[in-house]
Amino acid sequence: MALIGVLASGGGSNLQSIIDNVESGWIPDSQVVVVVSDKKDAYALERAESHGIESLHLDPSGYVSREDYDKEVVKELGKRDVDLVLLAGYMRIITPYFVRAFKDRLMNIHPALLPSFPGVHGQQQAFDYGVKVSGCTVHFVDEEVDHGPIIVQAAVPVLEGDDVNSLAGRILEQEHLIYPQAVKWYVEGRLTVEGRRVRVRGVEQAGRGLRVL
Ligand code: GRF
Repeated sequence: MALIGVLASGGGSNLQSIIDNVESGWIPDSQVVVVVSDKKDAYALERAESHGIESLHLDPSGYVSREDYDKEVVKELGKRDVDLVLLAGYMRIITPYFVRAFKDRLMNIHPALLPSFPGVHGQQQAFDYGVKVSGCTVHFVDEEVDHGPIIVQAAVPVLEGDDVNSLAGRILEQEHLIYPQAVKWYVEGRLTVEGRRVRVRGVEQAGRGLRVL
């Protein structure tokens, strides 16, 4: 049984996609055991509670440094024997302490095709740049922001009539498909990290963008 912890700061639609796929059994042998948020009013916390999942608000203002805060988060995850940590719209930068504590067991989803447009507002950056294709990326987290080894990506077209909101919506639909996909592969033991490359055992076409529209 893989015990999953999710960190979220906002609406938590990606959290919901994980919960739904765990509950349906599509992600096998897993349980989301805790959702942690730095924001008291994060809707993600309510989503957790409505599924009987423990929710935990940890207020960053109570800690002297980012590392002290992360130590607390890691401690809370450890108490619950969490195997895999998912960042899902978590708006804090993770410290190296956190990364080391969950090396190759910490994933993030980013709403652009990395390495393009890292950082906040990936959809807006891509739209403003005028790209014709954007998308989303699930990756393991390393010590640089939006940089770790890529597990899966999905591409979406930028259409003539798009504004940033319609593009972001199209990307989000794909986020809700590829994050559960990455977690499923993880709990099935298919993923190995070789330098920057993530190998997906038994899935011939993982690298071909299986969700490309
Ligand atoms: C998503 O676009 C995700 O890629 C980004 O933050 C957003 C979170 O959305 N990291 P939600 O809270 O999962 O609905």
